Amino acid sequence: MTRITNSVQAQAWNGTVGTHWATHQERYDAMLSGVNDALFAGAAIAAGDRVLDIGCGAGATTRIAARLAASGHAVGIDISAPLLDRARAITTTEGVTNVAYELADAQIHPFPPAGYDVVISRGGVMFFADHAAAFRNLAGALRPGGRLAFVCPRPAGPDVEESRALSLFGELLEGPDAGTVAAQVAMASLSDPARIPEVLRGYDDVTVTPVETETVWGRDAADAVDFILSRAPGRTVAADTRAALEDSLRPYETDRGVRLRAALWLVTARATTKDAARRPTPRQQ
Ligand SMILES: C[S@@+](CC[C@H](N)C(=O)[O-])C[C@H]1O[C@@H](n2cnc3c(N)ncnc32)[C@H](O)[C@@H]1O
Repeated sequence: MTRITNSVQAQAWNGTVGTHWATHQERYDAMLSGVNDALFAGAAIAAGDRVLDIGCGAGATTRIAARLAASGHAVGIDISAPLLDRARAITTTEGVTNVAYELADAQIHPFPPAGYDVVISRGGVMFFADHAAAFRNLAGALRPGGRLAFVCPRPAGPDVEESRALSLFGELLEGPDAGTVAAQVAMASLSDPARIPEVLRGYDDVTVTPVETETVWGRDAADAVDFILSRAPGRTVAADTRAALEDSLRPYETDRGVRLRAALWLVTARATTKDAARRPTPRQQ
């Protein structure tokens, strides 16, 4: 039986939130694909590398990593059974053979010590109850000098087009259950750039770089509103509210869908090569 310490997140990602991501996997992958160039530039995966993808979801980035690693391999770790079901099904369909997935809580999972050359994550590292402990655990999974690269949201606010455009949806989407609320709150847990070096204490060469991307929300405003409201299943909105939501997204319609500029951090670091720093603390043993 897999040991889980982040039980509220596990509830969210095996419940309402994870089911939504699994059901709408193609849309989420299209939405987030603009981040991939920055993530993989930071990860610098080379042929032969052993790659670990944290919070891999339906595995889009795990499969890209596996292809880049060629003779190496990629392992996707996630706490969500429905998302890993999608990941495995797509991997079979695409015929990617150097990929494996594991249902586990990355904060405490006993990874093989120094078993990986690269750890990546596309938005899967914000949900830990104890980030410092989780990143210490991941440091132990990396060989000395191995690379960590992840992307996470920058602070939301009126100066970010995505949060400005979606502001009308705020109250309508407030979590239908405790797990969903926890997932929504955790999304911003690493947005303060001052916090990132703190939780990566013990890593070398930490960099935090702003990245701009475009997220794609639907074919047109009506389709995007349907999708966004489906995040709160069972919630209904009055016709005039619905019309106002569509109007608010109309300025962002393009011939390539409803596109919103979003703001992220690309974080890179290296597992330290200093022996003493790699020795587990008594709490980790
Ligand atoms: C925002 S989604 C991103 C999914 C995927 N990386 C992508 O880009 O499509 C966050 C993912 O992190 C996973 N997650 C949350 N907490 C986790 C934990 N403690 N250990 C492993 N995965 C976790 C969730 O189940 C979810 O799949």
